[in-house]
Amino acid sequence: MPGQNFQIAIDGPVAAGKGTISRLVADQLGFLYVDTGAMYRVATLLAVRAGTNLENEPAIVKLIRLSNIQMRNPSHSEKDGRLTTVFLDGEDISWDIRTESISSKVSIVAALPKVREVLVKKQQIIAGTQNVVMEGRDITYRVLPDADLKIYLTGSDIVRAKRRHLQALQRGEFVSYDDVFEQLKIRDKNDTERVNDPLQIVDDAWVIDTSDLKIPQVVRLIVDKVRVMMDR
Ligand code: DC
Repeated sequence: MPGQNFQIAIDGPVAAGKGTISRLVADQLGFLYVDTGAMYRVATLLAVRAGTNLENEPAIVKLIRLSNIQMRNPSHSEKDGRLTTVFLDGEDISWDIRTESISSKVSIVAALPKVREVLVKKQQIIAGTQNVVMEGRDITYRVLPDADLKIYLTGSDIVRAKRRHLQALQRGEFVSYDDVFEQLKIRDKNDTERVNDPLQIVDDAWVIDTSDLKIPQVVRLIVDKVRVMMDR
């Protein structure tokens, strides 16, 4: 059963707009925004920095357990386009986890069952005590199966690749569109075909295709629905 706090669970493929939309919905409702993908990215960064093989599950779990990972809303001085601020042992790694180098490796780490187990527990603890908008790939059925509102955000692969490409260019990463598209297809395949908790649409999810919608339209749809639900 849902607890006293209100939980919005959002899943969907890469670049469907989950981060931006979740952040805005959380701001408008006064909820906490939790980017669970950032946690898998931190695990990947830890492995890369330590020179650990990306399939060495025990070593990566150990690195996570020994690290102090903190996530919070960006402060005033951190308003540089980031959606969330992430610290690893006190170091601000909010952008280090967003490079194409980490993006191309993260689905390997996210496929490790013990890594998922440790991170899912952390996510459930966070969502247990406050109103949250939590987004990722397994939130609607694994992390918060009793969430008050479950949403599956999606979009065509071309629209999503264009968005990702633009974001990379805006950050000064000069990657080609074709490379971004290819990476996106690989990540979609890894996310939907992995053995442990593959990306899926649950029966009671509200499916929103963002290909032809502007961000404020999607935000409005969700916020209006939650307000009606909370008033009941
Ligand atoms: O949303 P993102 O691109 O930051 O996610 C990074 C990776 O982590 C992506 O490959 C999917 C994976 N992920 C996951 O397996 N489960 C989640 N709850 C969130 C992200």
